[in-house]
Amino acid sequence: MGQILRRAVERLDCLGRISDHPHHLVRTYLSPANRQAAECLLGWMAEVGMQTQHASDGTVRGILPGAAPEARPLLLGSHLDTVINAGKYDGALGLTAVLAALEELRDLGMQLPFPVHLLGFSDEEGVRFQTTYLGSRGVTGQLDLETAAQLDAAGQSQGIVLATEGWHDGAASFCYDEGNVRGYVELHIEQGRVLEEFDEAAGVVSGINGQSRLLVTLTGQADHAGTTPMELRRDSLPAAAEAILATEKLAREHPGLMATVGKIEVLPGSSNSIPQMTSFTLDVRHPVDTERVRLLKVLEDAVRKTTATRGLKLDWQLVQENNAVICDAGLTGNLCDALERVTGSRRQLASGAGHDGVAIAKVAPIGMIFVRCRSGLSHHPDEYAAPADIGVGIRVLVEFLKSLPR
Ligand code: GLV
Ligand code: MN
Ligand code: MN
Repeated sequence: MGQILRRAVERLDCLGRISDHPHHLVRTYLSPANRQAAECLLGWMAEVGMQTQHASDGTVRGILPGAAPEARPLLLGSHLDTVINAGKYDGALGLTAVLAALEELRDLGMQLPFPVHLLGFSDEEGVRFQTTYLGSRGVTGQLDLETAAQLDAAGQSQGIVLATEGWHDGAASFCYDEGNVRGYVELHIEQGRVLEEFDEAAGVVSGINGQSRLLVTLTGQADHAGTTPMELRRDSLPAAAEAILATEKLAREHPGLMATVGKIEVLPGSSNSIPQMTSFTLDVRHPVDTERVRLLKVLEDAVRKTTATRGLKLDWQLVQENNAVICDAGLTGNLCDALERVTGSRRQLASGAGHDGVAIAKVAPIGMIFVRCRSGLSHHPDEYAAPADIGVGIRVLVEFLKSLPR
């Protein structure tokens, strides 16, 4: 393993140890570990010769001016936050790979003919507020008051958290608009099985599937578990169970549809009280936006029927919706050329997972490189990309950067 690749793997290990929990990896938006990881990244950016800044929303940025600092910058980046009990590659791989690519170019004595901005986003997963891309939406001017008012599990709004977590001190304000950047490119672990099936170390992403995130709340009546006759109960939990099974059935019957209930809350939450309220998150994805919307309506109608039959109230709240995004043809062509020079393949694949490019695509062309993921396993501590494959991903990034004109 070369020195640069070894350093990239060390940095990944280092970020993998920065966690809010002593026994598993978790770094949610603006948590102490998220902040520590951001400070670590700022230090590494400075090490590779970048000017560093942070935004008040926790996004960190390193700038390498290149030979023409006034030219439109190329944005590179990924995210520093993780899911709960995460693997160490999702997000962190993209950041450490860019640092390695820039070190490689520096060792080659190459100065790029345009500036590079490396962005480390503090929220891509959307674990804390159940709404995603807070970092990339922030730097592209897409955060609205409704999102800022969203509450976390402790009942704090994003606006309050931002003001109290200390990120305002010394913060720079940066915002990218349509036309002022040449594009955004991200390297990410695949989180699927396609590259493994083709036995290829890396590939180029053709597009990112659309996604809807919802919060579904069913409300009935709390009562005594020992005295309330079964036929008189308005128990929210069995109705939620029916709704969740209907979700799974619908997705199994419609290839392409992915539907997940990832979090459930039951109140009042005692074994001898009938559950008054059950709420659950719903994550629905499909490569075709019209199909996602249509099938979500089918599901909503079924859940409305269940709750009406059981005398419950239903709150069906759409928290976030993102249409599918097609990667830019120009950047994708350049990335495929670079991939071919490194591996001989021009493999393209779609992304079932969401990425910051979804938000950035509103203002700039986007492209992505995927690195093979062992068994396709992700959002799990056993998530793994082999150092040799990471090395291939870094070389593709280097080839891509070398090939771009001013
Ligand atoms: C992020 O990993 C997502 O796809 O939800
Ligand atoms: Mn990710
Ligand atoms: Mn993820």
